[in-house]
Amino acid sequence: MQLSRSAQLRAPGVAKRVSRARVAVVKAAKTADGPRVAIVGITGAVGQEFLTVLKERNFPYSSIKMLASARSAGKKQEFEGVSYTVEELTENSFNDVDIALFSAGGSISKKLGPVAAKAGAIVVDNSSAFRMTEGVPLIIPEVNPEAMSHIKIGKGGAIIANPNCSTIIALMAVTPLDRVATVKRMVVSTYQAASGAGAAAMEELRQQTRDVLDGKPAQPKIFPQQYAFNLFSHNSAMDVELGYNEEEMKLVKETRKIWGKPDVRITATCVRVPVMRAHAESINLEFEKDISEAQALEALAAFPGVSIINDRTNNRFPTPLDATTKDNVFVGRVRRDISREDKRGLDLFVCGDQIKKGAALNAVQIAELLLK
Ligand SMILES: NC(=O)c1ccc[n+]([C@@H]2O[C@H](COP(=O)([O-])OP(=O)(O)OC[C@H]3O[C@@H](n4cnc5c(N)ncnc54)[C@H](OP(=O)(O)O)[C@@H]3O)[C@@H](O)[C@H]2O)c1
Repeated sequence: MQLSRSAQLRAPGVAKRVSRARVAVVKAAKTADGPRVAIVGITGAVGQEFLTVLKERNFPYSSIKMLASARSAGKKQEFEGVSYTVEELTENSFNDVDIALFSAGGSISKKLGPVAAKAGAIVVDNSSAFRMTEGVPLIIPEVNPEAMSHIKIGKGGAIIANPNCSTIIALMAVTPLDRVATVKRMVVSTYQAASGAGAAAMEELRQQTRDVLDGKPAQPKIFPQQYAFNLFSHNSAMDVELGYNEEEMKLVKETRKIWGKPDVRITATCVRVPVMRAHAESINLEFEKDISEAQALEALAAFPGVSIINDRTNNRFPTPLDATTKDNVFVGRVRRDISREDKRGLDLFVCGDQIKKGAALNAVQIAELLLK
């Protein structure tokens, strides 16, 4: 199994060297020639994760602006030893910003993303507002970095979209296989964590779990149904005619755009499960060419950002807790689809931290591409 970067940092023998390096890293992140960064939605689940990821990756910045709604204006936010004051997001927030990491919901992005871009900022947007907009690159840095190669800091503002979390996690596992044998059809079933619906949904899961264990009735607020000790079809809007919800259609449409394959056939069933912050996905694939389990494992092991847990003897495969707070997406249960007579089908099970690779990490990796 390939160790994630954080696991490598915890490996025996490197602890001392790493802790010294970490101190140096934290001091080095603020630098006069770094970009001026703004985080929109700093008080939210993704906004807070941005700070963790920027720190972990030693992302250079000359200034950092913390933005949220009027409700949070004036609150204090500590980052790398400095206390910042959260500012209210307004149309004038972007005059001195090079990179704006947006994570305050689709309507805020729709309204102020173009304002920020017009002011010269490069917006990396976590919402779905611009994902399918023509001309807006939809990026997973390990998969299609070339789609944003024309966007550079100082060369005018722009918007880059971060894909939906389920799409990112699926494509981190499936892209290396697509490159070996070309995916023709993909069937995805998701098991999605609370974090995808924000900090309040995570609190709802905590509170309901406590209440149910204490013999009290669960009180649904964010989700329409009881969440603790239950699961339900994804809470995004349902297309009544088609029978698919928005989350499922995001997987279909975003995969086609990211891969540049408008005809690839995809169907999905998205389900919310009572897990705090990492999604799991069961994926069945049909390929144009033959592909063996060994070829698949070799391609997965060579792909950056993927770790494999595939221990059949001990029945040990990825779990959401394996992926929680980790950068990498974990893949296992790699097996030939026995329902087919040919060698063109595979099944996989994938887990990835939804707030990290599914949101904040992927967006910061996009910002890192802008520094190159
Ligand atoms: N894969 C992905 O890319 C991905 C994954 C998860 C989420 N998201 C997106 O990121 C958004 C935020 O997700 P989250 O999980 O962090 O949600 P969250 O925990 O509910 O946080 C929402 C954030 O938006 C801010 N906000 C709300 N209304 C605002 C306004 N009128 N003006 C300025 N700021 C406002 C909130 O500030 P206050 O605290 O001041 O209200 C808070 O900081 C989601 O809506 C979704 O679009 C994307």
